[in-house]
Amino acid sequence: MMNDKKVLFSGMQATGTLTLGNYLGALKNWVTLSDEYECFYCVVDLHSITIRQDPAELRKRARNLLTLYIAAGLDPTKNCLYYQSHVSGHAELSWILNCFTYMGELNRMTQFKDKSQKHADNINAGLFTYPVLMAADILLFQSDVVPVGIDQMQHLEITRDIAQRFNNIYGDVFTIPEPYIGKTGAKIMSLQDPTKKMSKSDENPNSSIYLMDDPDAIVRKFKRAVTDSGKEILYTDDKPGIKNLLDIYCTITQKTVEEAVKEFDGKGYGEFKLAVGEVVADHLRPVQERFGQLSKDKAFIDGIIKDNAEKANYFATKTLRKVQRKVGFPDRIR
Ligand code: TRP
Repeated sequence: MMNDKKVLFSGMQATGTLTLGNYLGALKNWVTLSDEYECFYCVVDLHSITIRQDPAELRKRARNLLTLYIAAGLDPTKNCLYYQSHVSGHAELSWILNCFTYMGELNRMTQFKDKSQKHADNINAGLFTYPVLMAADILLFQSDVVPVGIDQMQHLEITRDIAQRFNNIYGDVFTIPEPYIGKTGAKIMSLQDPTKKMSKSDENPNSSIYLMDDPDAIVRKFKRAVTDSGKEILYTDDKPGIKNLLDIYCTITQKTVEEAVKEFDGKGYGEFKLAVGEVVADHLRPVQERFGQLSKDKAFIDGIIKDNAEKANYFATKTLRKVQRKVGFPDRIR
């Protein structure tokens, strides 16, 4: 790369409205990591069409997501924030890697099994080879680390297997990426059923805090959060609701669980839930304000999109040409 920082790659889909879970589990960590690594943060729109999308809606959401990356604190001049569809190397490398991936490996992917059950009317080949595209995303930039949630670990493992297999045949072409799993706030649970992950696709809007919820709605949802019949604010597995609220509180305030438990010692659930709601609302307010301002500045966002696509293309092409040469494609004539 251009400096000696290690390369980090991650991506998010622009499907659904982002929740506090996506923010605390991913985006907020991305901001923290952006000092230490050379970061590529992609809006993975190629992945999105493995499920049928409304075109206008997808385009709008993709732009909102990229804008949100910036609003959340990612500096678009230091981090490469771009659309996957603007860098054709993703699709080209994905094709090549398809030829180095076995059907049996893809058959074992639990997300494929889940998604094909959920979308039984559209089990397309893209859904099946989704992990190969993800491998291409990561390997295209010679990424050293990939921050992922636990649900994407299997995809990262297959990425490593594919890279290793390719390297075994052709020499050291790809950097083998390592997963990066965040310390706290890795998994935020539903406010209505704290045994389930907070999800953008939950039908009950009270289950999730959406990043664009106004402060009143945020506080209201926390007040309604399902806890348990007890009184004590303790961090234990048999109090999943309280545990989830403590996780949220600590991730935002950067306090330890012990500190938080002490702070709320002797206080009721009502007071506790209100405090968590307020902390979240206060934390999201500046992000929401920046998002509002940025959304109005079309020329600025357009410039970011253009410059970063160029930057991503430059690095992607370097890897792609090397790979094409290794597998035996003819050299380009200049
Ligand atoms: N599949 C990931 C998800 O749904 C998104 C993704 C696509 C990704 N390509 C990636 C994440 C590469 C990390 C690295 O969450």
